[in-house]
Amino acid sequence: MTSITWLKALGFEHKSSAQSKELDMDCFEKQSKLTAQHIPHDVDDVSSNQVSKIRSLDELMASRYSCREFDPKRKVDTAILEKIIASGSLSPSACNQQPYFFFGVGFNGMSKLNALRPWYGASAMILACRDDQEKGWVRPSDQEPFADFDLGLAMMPMALKAEELGLGSCFIASFSPKYMRKILGIDERFEPHVALVLGYPLMGPCENHFKRKESISMIID
Ligand SMILES: Cc1cc2nc3c(=O)[nH]c(=O)nc-3n(C[C@H](O)[C@H](O)[C@H](O)COP(=O)(O)O)c2cc1C
Repeated sequence: MTSITWLKALGFEHKSSAQSKELDMDCFEKQSKLTAQHIPHDVDDVSSNQVSKIRSLDELMASRYSCREFDPKRKVDTAILEKIIASGSLSPSACNQQPYFFFGVGFNGMSKLNALRPWYGASAMILACRDDQEKGWVRPSDQEPFADFDLGLAMMPMALKAEELGLGSCFIASFSPKYMRKILGIDERFEPHVALVLGYPLMGPCENHFKRKESISMIID
């Protein structure tokens, strides 16, 4: 998806050339004008999915779980896939390099994958790939690469957006990237890294979902 497409998916108007010229005066000024715009809430999605109330981030985090059984016959609209990808596209990345590429896989692609191995009956998927031509930022002091961190940052909002739209989701890393690329006819430039399978849930969270470590943080005043 181009940046224009995802901006549109989020409800931003594409500026006319006159408006663009006006906004082109200075990069930072342009950014502040753009950020001053309101990002509309997806009222249509909320009503179309019978989600009765707008949920806060904490509520979305609490209700999301790894769904491992979907209704295989219920398709996820391509427009919904675009909206989910659009949410991830707003994520920050080191030096703003966005070193990734996302394929939205619809019903036909999933049918091919489901025929070879069960994907929990998911009828759609976002496949997050590393991009050969965008290596991402590497911290000079210790050569630590941040591309995979950036990719992870972009994926979580997608899972939350799916939750908001009434879809179930599950991250899946246990697949062969080479095989996946072959089945879906993906260019060698992209290396499949992690998938977010999507669909209409037929099951709730499993026991594992409720097991959270008691101590994973500490405040240092
Ligand atoms: C990077 C990543 C890879 C994962 N890979 C798989 C997978 O291959 N198969 C699977 O069933 N679940 C997979 N999961 C789901 C995790 O097992 C799950 O998030 C975890 O057990 C916590 O459960 P919850 O998501 O229901 O809260 C993956 C999750 C992440 C973040």
